[in-house]
Amino acid sequence: MLPTEKQYVQWHENETLCNARWLSESNQVPPARIVLVDDKTTADEAYRLACAGTSMLWHGDFHNARQLLQAINRRIERSEQRKISKAANKNKSAEPTAESSVTPKMIPEVLSKQLPNLFHQQRQAQAQRSRVLGRLLLKLDARYVSQLRRAPDVSAACTAAFGQLDKAMDESCLLSFRDLQGALGAAGWRAKGVPIENLGLSIFPHYGVFAPTRHEYVQLLLDAPLPDTCDVALDIGTGTGLLAIILAQRGVQQVIATDLNPRALACASENFARLELSAVQLQQADLFPTDAPLANLIVCNPPWLPAKPTSPLEHGVYDANSAMLRGFLQGAKQHLAEQGEVWLILSDLAEHLQLRTRDELLGWFADADLEVKYRLDTQPKHGRSQDNTDPLFAARSAEITSLWCLVPQS
Ligand SMILES: C[S@@+](CC[C@H](N)C(=O)[O-])C[C@H]1O[C@@H](n2cnc3c(N)ncnc32)[C@H](O)[C@@H]1O
Repeated sequence: MLPTEKQYVQWHENETLCNARWLSESNQVPPARIVLVDDKTTADEAYRLACAGTSMLWHGDFHNARQLLQAINRRIERSEQRKISKAANKNKSAEPTAESSVTPKMIPEVLSKQLPNLFHQQRQAQAQRSRVLGRLLLKLDARYVSQLRRAPDVSAACTAAFGQLDKAMDESCLLSFRDLQGALGAAGWRAKGVPIENLGLSIFPHYGVFAPTRHEYVQLLLDAPLPDTCDVALDIGTGTGLLAIILAQRGVQQVIATDLNPRALACASENFARLELSAVQLQQADLFPTDAPLANLIVCNPPWLPAKPTSPLEHGVYDANSAMLRGFLQGAKQHLAEQGEVWLILSDLAEHLQLRTRDELLGWFADADLEVKYRLDTQPKHGRSQDNTDPLFAARSAEITSLWCLVPQS
């Protein structure tokens, strides 16, 4: 699934000008400066080059590149740690910083003021880390075959993730090892699936599609009573198709699922086919489907953090200015049949991070002419919510995910 506008990159090898298609999942521009590196390149040297903005084309052993990447990562971590310690020392006598380990009970008021900044700092640090790590590159031919020593067969994983290259044009490509690792990881998930225990089935995510690895909200969808009449349901932003599958399994006769992301549609379609679910239809749409009947139930699990996504995958988590959430709420009523219900699945992490207030959310419900019929809550148990070394632990450990059942105002 490559962007329609192709980008190319040029570099020199032994005085020869080389040219290849540039692939970057996070839409990085083609590197302006590329040097050749191999097994003799030290981790310190590679780290220095990467931090200085120089991209490195790997010519050594495939597996050594993975080790080099790990070594660069350790150096980034050490540098981040040094910055944190410096900041902590500076603030020792002043307010406690959230960079030190904190528990939810500690200094909530002082800390909570720092959370939005910490959140943005953490995202910036993550972005910088992926830029630096993304500077170790490899070349693959038009069939995604690598000529590197001991290179595994990455062809199927790359084709599944990035689509076909132009074989007729013998179009080789340059991409980062990080993107390649992402494609290989996704191929693993796609092959073995994500088990959804309370449904007794597995969901098979595709590359670039929000994977329901933290799926505590599934129980909420199983527990919520269906409206008395529930023949037609919409699943807005279906991703892997998980919510549509739950509704179809609960007996809804017609489920129409939408997503903006073409990879999500392909993925959901495959998951529906595996489960032989003929009740579900798919549409590529910005929010609501066109030409759909009025629905008895509309479900949506939108990205839950109001911040700008920086890669296609982040569109499942980050929603700039809560545009999808607000658009969904605004449009929901006009797609509802009489006595219909809206089920909004939403984490309140944004509230704990002070990126959104509860009053704001309730105000958006009211602006959309919707009122709360009931709410079901659950507490995430995923690793990050238990990690007390995470600077955002105070917020993450307090997170609640809710199913808001909304109905038109009476
Ligand atoms: C948090 S994920 C939820 C996926 C799935 N419903 C689930 O619960 O596992 C949000 C999904 O919304 C999709 N999305 C984001 N903006 C959208 C929009 N404007 N219209 C339709 N889908 C959108 C994303 O591509 C992503 O698949």
